Amino acid sequence: MTRKNLIVGNWKMHATHLEAIQMTQKLHYRLDPKDFDRVDVGLAPPFTALRSVQTVIEADHMQFSLGAQNVHWEEKGAFTGEIAPGMLAKLNVRYVIVGHSERRQIFGETDEWIAKKVKAVLAHDMIPILCVGETLDEREAGGAMEKVERQVLADFEGLSADQVGTATIAYEPIWAIGTGRTAKPEDAQEVIGFIRDLLRRKWGDVAEETRILYGGSVNPGNIAAIMAKKDIDGALVGGASLDPDTFASVVRYWI
Ligand code: PGA
Repeated sequence: MTRKNLIVGNWKMHATHLEAIQMTQKLHYRLDPKDFDRVDVGLAPPFTALRSVQTVIEADHMQFSLGAQNVHWEEKGAFTGEIAPGMLAKLNVRYVIVGHSERRQIFGETDEWIAKKVKAVLAHDMIPILCVGETLDEREAGGAMEKVERQVLADFEGLSADQVGTATIAYEPIWAIGTGRTAKPEDAQEVIGFIRDLLRRKWGDVAEETRILYGGSVNPGNIAAIMAKKDIDGALVGGASLDPDTFASVVRYWI
């Protein structure tokens, strides 16, 4: 098994570029260089802070990877307010969150757009973190697996096996995001194991290489039990990534 754990902080619409610099520096001081042997750590600040965080990471040789929270699929053009994949690649962005449930629900992103974004990110040698997950109604109606299957197949439409191996998926049950209600580790494992089987059925053995994360109210108290599950390769962390002390405890989940 070659999958390395990955924990990504999704700062959402929090932090000016000055605050983001401080958060990055504080987190760096709270971690040990050896921690990065066990886990890759990504930081996804708002667009306005990407350049500042990149500069801090590179100047101080920090081991964090830079992440973006969204992207447009076109290379350039008349798309007011959008950011092109090439612009992110030029900032050494490594991870791009695609299809977060907030983008789908609040901003109306469709699977058709999300599939284009996934391809655009891969074309620029960055790693998409595709977010999928069911609502509470869908879960209670027994439709969680069906929902994530539909999303994964639509959003990875047309990808090669190699591309699927490079990509990352974050299973984020919508009812667990920002609510303090975490999925039980065994329920998260059940869905994530199902996603890996789905990838195997469709793309073959490369499914063993695709990192699949859990997201939704991850915190220092629940991360260890989540990471102990065999198909769960890490976490996408919102609220608990904003405080460097708290996020450091999540990253060092084994301590
Ligand atoms: P949360 O957010 O950790 O605050 O629940 C997770 C996410 O939306 O990625």
